[in-house]
Amino acid sequence: MTYRIGYLVGSLATQSINRTLSKALIKLAPADLEFTEIEIGNLPLYNYDYDADYPAEGRALKQAIEASDGILIITPEYNRSIPGALKNAIDWGSRPWGANSFARKPTGVVGASMGAIGTAVAQSQLRSVLSFLDAPQLNSPEVYINFDPDVYGDGEIRDDGTKDFLQHYMNEFYAFVQRVLDVNAAGHI
Ligand code: FNR
Repeated sequence: MTYRIGYLVGSLATQSINRTLSKALIKLAPADLEFTEIEIGNLPLYNYDYDADYPAEGRALKQAIEASDGILIITPEYNRSIPGALKNAIDWGSRPWGANSFARKPTGVVGASMGAIGTAVAQSQLRSVLSFLDAPQLNSPEVYINFDPDVYGDGEIRDDGTKDFLQHYMNEFYAFVQRVLDVNAAGHI
């Protein structure tokens, strides 16, 4: 079964290590997952004045989330928290009130940083936000990458252990998306 996965990169930096990680993950994913990036860099800063008439960028974001079978978020940690651009995108997707695009979307959260704990604090906070938005999340395995530029080429991983681990993650993500969609279709657990 083919599933459409919308992915969000939480960094707007041109040399983003999380973008590099996203390329590696996509290459390692089961062939049945089709990936489309959901842009976050073009969004204005959200406030509820927009709710009456969402701008095209906000509508496009919501449509892209809603058209996805699953969501994968690849994010850095900024000051032990969620990068502002990513939080802004999630706020856009969550509104107007009663039209939360994340509800019941199977979601994966991963991240890379230059620090030793590999975005663990940001991911924890992101999981709280996604829980509030009723987005079921793959809880295990967790992916906290302490980024080593020698290991990650342009999406090619030069370390077998890392490659196996990330491939395992993508296989588990695929199975998780399938399980959540089955539950959603049945209407109960
Ligand atoms: C960082 N960085 C960082 N790293 C970390 O492990 N924990 C943190 O809290 C922070 N805080 C932080 C704040 C800000 C404003 C910046 C710019 C950076 C370092 C971060 O891991 C590094 O810049 C990565 O390269 C960010 O990922 P992207 O943007 O390259 O994908």
